[in-house]
Amino acid sequence: MTGAGVRGDTAAMVRARTSFLASGVYEPIAREVAEVIGDHVLPPPAELRDETPAGRPARVATGPLLADLGGGTGYYSAYVLNHVPEFEGVLLDASAPAAKVAVRAHPRLTVATADLWRAIPLPTANVDVALVVFAPRNPAEIARILKSDGICVVATPQPDHLAELRAVVPLLGIEPDKGTRLESQFAGFGRFETRFVTYQTALDPTAIAEVIGMGPSAYHLSPANIADRAAAAGRRLVTVSVAVDVFTRGA
Ligand SMILES: C[S@@+](CC[C@H](N)C(=O)[O-])C[C@H]1O[C@@H](n2cnc3c(N)ncnc32)[C@H](O)[C@@H]1O
Repeated sequence: MTGAGVRGDTAAMVRARTSFLASGVYEPIAREVAEVIGDHVLPPPAELRDETPAGRPARVATGPLLADLGGGTGYYSAYVLNHVPEFEGVLLDASAPAAKVAVRAHPRLTVATADLWRAIPLPTANVDVALVVFAPRNPAEIARILKSDGICVVATPQPDHLAELRAVVPLLGIEPDKGTRLESQFAGFGRFETRFVTYQTALDPTAIAEVIGMGPSAYHLSPANIADRAAAAGRRLVTVSVAVDVFTRGA
C-alpha cells in the first residue's frame, strides 16, 4: 500500500457523500458490484440453513463474510447485503463521521473505525469477499484476511470518470497511472475479470457540489468555494466511468 497517514473523510465530506449516494446516481456501480459478487460467490450449502423439527436452528449458520474496506457510509455494503442475502458484512473506515452513518446502513453490517494503511483488524483467512470502492488498498493485508477461495473486488474510477467536471475543479483529475498501479499492487493475486460501468448522467449544481465535496478536492476547497464553482457550472451532463476488478487470492 502506498501513501502515509490517515485521511478519513471529514463530517462535511460524509454529509455530501450521504446525500449524493442517496440520490441514486451511483446505483449502477453498486448494482455491478453486487452482481459480480453474486456471480463469484456461491451461497452456503442448504444444510447450513436447515432447522430441527422443533423449529430451532440445527447449528449456528453464518453466511459468507464481506469486508468493505474504506467503506465510508456503507452505501455499497448495504446494497450488496440487500441483493446477496446470504452475506454478513463488516465495514472498516478511518473516518468516525462515516462510521456513525454506516452503523445504520444495514442490520447485517458490523462497523468499526480502523487505519487500513497500518493493518486490517480481522483474523487471517476469514473473509470471502474483500470490497474496496474508491478507497485505499492494502493488498498484503487483503491477502492475509481472505480465505483461500476468497475474492477481492476493487472499484476504481477510470480516466474519463467525471471528466466534464475537471473544468469546474482542476483537482478532481484521476491519477493517470491508476490502472497500472492497481495491477502492480495486486501482482500477487490472480485477476479473474474486469467489468466496466460507463454511463452519462445530468447533474444539477447541488449534485455537482456534493460530488466535489465528497472527493479529494474537498480537502483543498472551502464549502463556499465549492458551491460557487458548482453554481457557475450549472446543470451538466457528466460521464461516470468505473472499472470493477475481481482478484482471486492466489496468482
Ligand atoms: C472516496 S471514499 C469511499 C468510501 C466508500 N467506499 C464509498 O465509495 O462510498 C474513501 C474512504 O476511505 C477512507 N479512508 C481513507 N484513508 C483511510 C485509511 N488509512 N484507513 C481506513 N479508511 C481510510 C475514507 O474515510 C473514506 O471513507
